[in-house]
Amino acid sequence: MYTLMTLILLVPLLLFLFRHLLSRRLRQRKPYPPGPKGLPIIGNILMMNQFNHRGLAKLSRTYGGLLHLRLGISHLFVVSSPQIARQVLQVQDHVFSNRPTTIAIRYLTYGQSDLAFCNYGPFWRRMRKLYVMMLFSRKRAESWASVDEEVHKAVRSVAANVGKPLNVCKVAFSLTRDITFRAAFGSSSSSSNEGRLDEFLEIIQEFSKLFGEFNVADYVPSWLSWIDPQGINKRVEKARKSLDCFIESIINDHLDKKKTEKNVNVDEVTDMVDQLLAFYKEEVKVKDSETKINLDNIKGIIMDVMFGGTETVALAIEWVLTELLRSPENMKRVQDELATVVGLERWSVEDTHLEKLSFLKCVLKDTLRLHPPFPLLLHETVEEAEVSGYFIPKGSRVMVTPTLLGVTRLRGPTRKYSTRVGRRSCPGMQLGMYAFELAVAHLLHCFTWRLPDGVKFGDVDTIEGPGLTVAKANSLVAVPIKRLLCPMVLESHNV
Ligand code: HEM
Repeated sequence: MYTLMTLILLVPLLLFLFRHLLSRRLRQRKPYPPGPKGLPIIGNILMMNQFNHRGLAKLSRTYGGLLHLRLGISHLFVVSSPQIARQVLQVQDHVFSNRPTTIAIRYLTYGQSDLAFCNYGPFWRRMRKLYVMMLFSRKRAESWASVDEEVHKAVRSVAANVGKPLNVCKVAFSLTRDITFRAAFGSSSSSSNEGRLDEFLEIIQEFSKLFGEFNVADYVPSWLSWIDPQGINKRVEKARKSLDCFIESIINDHLDKKKTEKNVNVDEVTDMVDQLLAFYKEEVKVKDSETKINLDNIKGIIMDVMFGGTETVALAIEWVLTELLRSPENMKRVQDELATVVGLERWSVEDTHLEKLSFLKCVLKDTLRLHPPFPLLLHETVEEAEVSGYFIPKGSRVMVTPTLLGVTRLRGPTRKYSTRVGRRSCPGMQLGMYAFELAVAHLLHCFTWRLPDGVKFGDVDTIEGPGLTVAKANSLVAVPIKRLLCPMVLESHNV
């Protein structure tokens, strides 16, 4: 009886105190940024077809540089002003350094075991160190030098098809696929490898779509996450299985190679996978810790390189050719510059030429601004934050839209802010940019590109496809024509 009386008195008192503290806290904290009003419980979920970078950019024009959306139980903030981007990516980047996850991301990255999607902290720091060591050590620098050889190979393959309509997307993807494949897995494209190379491309293209897919199940409480109205779970499972088989076959090939080549020591490792496996052999001996790297992490790094190194550069190459075919004056200016700097009597563009190709560089940067391969930078708050007088709760998704941050140089003033900053910035950008510049310089120096018969400049569209990365929805088809005064690359290499 006594206990019951105490409870009857205590419960309302506790409820009153809780309400009081909560409302005091709500009164004390800053407001959320503006955004479209959502429905109770589901918030703005019904607007989800607008949550790609173009749709979010449009919403930002109405609501401002920091926009707030409610997606079921989650908060989403969209940053489109350079000042706020500076806060998120630079000044307060320690607070915004987690990556948001979705069911697809968690499953496809072996539970955020890779570098790109793991959360910020000591483990991320160790992974990033390992990544840089594996990719940019002196040994790796030698294998990235193969970029030049693979670009030359691509030029020869285009030269063998002059006068015929080519799918530029396929040309660009086979080039970047070969660069990544060779640097990371040691083997270059050959007819015996062709099936594997195609499989590699299929996997990353499906991954890109799944990473960017908006899945309702991500925004409901976890006990409801089995709902799958869009059929994403099945696709995710299939994609992960294909990736796993692919990476395991690569790892097994490397282990078999070691068995057949007796007395191979760690210094003789030839490619990134060799190096990762040599590292892993030592790591298993280390006692368990927060930063210990396991086999899933090794697979995750391989996945990041496959994904980061191939699609970004290939998409950028296709977009540059698209923009130049839509603008014959700029195409002429780029090609005149190449003729002056490199000379029509030689076909190979060297490092030293790239530095002098200022208009080409300007076109490349401009294209990346108009069509950034990753149009939404995905971040998540590690703790509560305050930006520009607004409140951002812990665990919120924050998307920065580079398309809105930069204004184009060819068509207006230079951009004010670079997105290549902050702890989670791209570690492979320099390498990617080198491959991008070298490939485009060669393709535009060695060939004049025409549209197929019956297609006019105005017909070349810039419609974007879905996904985390932005590809052209309709692949560009163009006809390469011989341009140089020197013998064709084809003849000089007996291809
Ligand atoms: C021109 C080509 C490239 C572009 C445009 C690009 C773009 C980006 C962007 C926008 C980010 C996210 C930055 C952020 O969230 O603040 C990123 C991260 C990343 N990129 Fe790249 N990238 C390129 C090339 C590469 C290459 C060649 C590799 C690997 C070989 C690579 C591997 C990565 C990884 C692992 C991350 C995640 C880093 C982290 O979270 O700590 N990228 N990239």
